[in-house]
Amino acid sequence: MPEAAGGPRSPRDAPRNLDPDGRSGGERGSSGVRTAVVTGGSSGIGAATGQRLRAEGFEVVLGARRLGRLREVARAIGARAIELDVTDPASVDAFAEAAGPVDVLVNNAGGALGLEEVSAFDEAKWRWMWEANVAGVARVTRALLPALEARGNGHIVVIGSIAGEHTYPGGGGYTAAKHAARAVTETLRLELLGRPVRVTEVDPGMVETEFSLVRFDGDQARAAAVYEGMTPLEAADVADCVAWAVTRPAHVNVDRIVVMPRDQAGPGLVARRPPS
Ligand SMILES: NC(=O)c1ccc[n+]([C@@H]2O[C@H](COP(=O)([O-])OP(=O)(O)OC[C@H]3O[C@@H](n4cnc5c(N)ncnc54)[C@H](OP(=O)(O)O)[C@@H]3O)[C@@H](O)[C@H]2O)c1
Repeated sequence: MPEAAGGPRSPRDAPRNLDPDGRSGGERGSSGVRTAVVTGGSSGIGAATGQRLRAEGFEVVLGARRLGRLREVARAIGARAIELDVTDPASVDAFAEAAGPVDVLVNNAGGALGLEEVSAFDEAKWRWMWEANVAGVARVTRALLPALEARGNGHIVVIGSIAGEHTYPGGGGYTAAKHAARAVTETLRLELLGRPVRVTEVDPGMVETEFSLVRFDGDQARAAAVYEGMTPLEAADVADCVAWAVTRPAHVNVDRIVVMPRDQAGPGLVARRPPS
């Protein structure tokens, strides 16, 4: 069983987030408050999204592997923390059972490993990128879709990437995974047509999180160099996009948001200022 933890969740902590257009939202808690589940909530975009959705009045459930970190994030914002490994079907099922009713699912867990060229690709890294960014999205969605649909106004958000549309040297494993995540997201939208579940993809460019640290196996200097001389997005900027999409009226489906720093025009196109 996954462990669950969380800080106090006083209704005074946040404004109530009711069904955005006041329509009947199906079965929901007696308070009418909506619940958002965010995968990969222990750092970066997931943590910021949990915080922002909490501020918007959602009950928030965060999932990730590092339970200690996750609990700290959850405690600070009054969310629940439940251990989750999206690459493990049993973990996903246990997470879904523990999460309970859900109105919004933010499929955010994922990332990149390495920057090797295709001619030297690393089997384990590519497999992990597929498992986390693609199968992970499908797995968590499969597990939570009945709960999302039961609420009468469900919303699935997938954190994709501009790597879902573009390629770059050394990015083969990650771009292939994010291209596939896009295909899964678009397929899902087609399959859910006529059912009360919206599907949104948010595709960021460069965001300063632990992403590059993870990609370069903890190499701080290499990770820091990625953002040198330019101003990247902050995790909160992406959370802002998610919050906007999920607070539109129930009949509005925001299909896709692409968001990049002003200093970036594509994966390899970055304006860097010389050091002063
Ligand atoms: N940063 C960028 O420039 C950027 C740009 C475009 C898209 N993205 C995407 O944004 C998403 C979030 O990344 P981030 O930038 O916020 O990086 P991050 O700070 O490294 O966060 C990644 C999160 O995913 C979780 N995670 C990783 N593997 C997991 C697994 N198997 N099961 C459950 N949780 C897992 C991590 O938590 P644990 O380690 O505790 O499990 C962590 O909370 C990713 O999908 C990434 O591909 C990032």
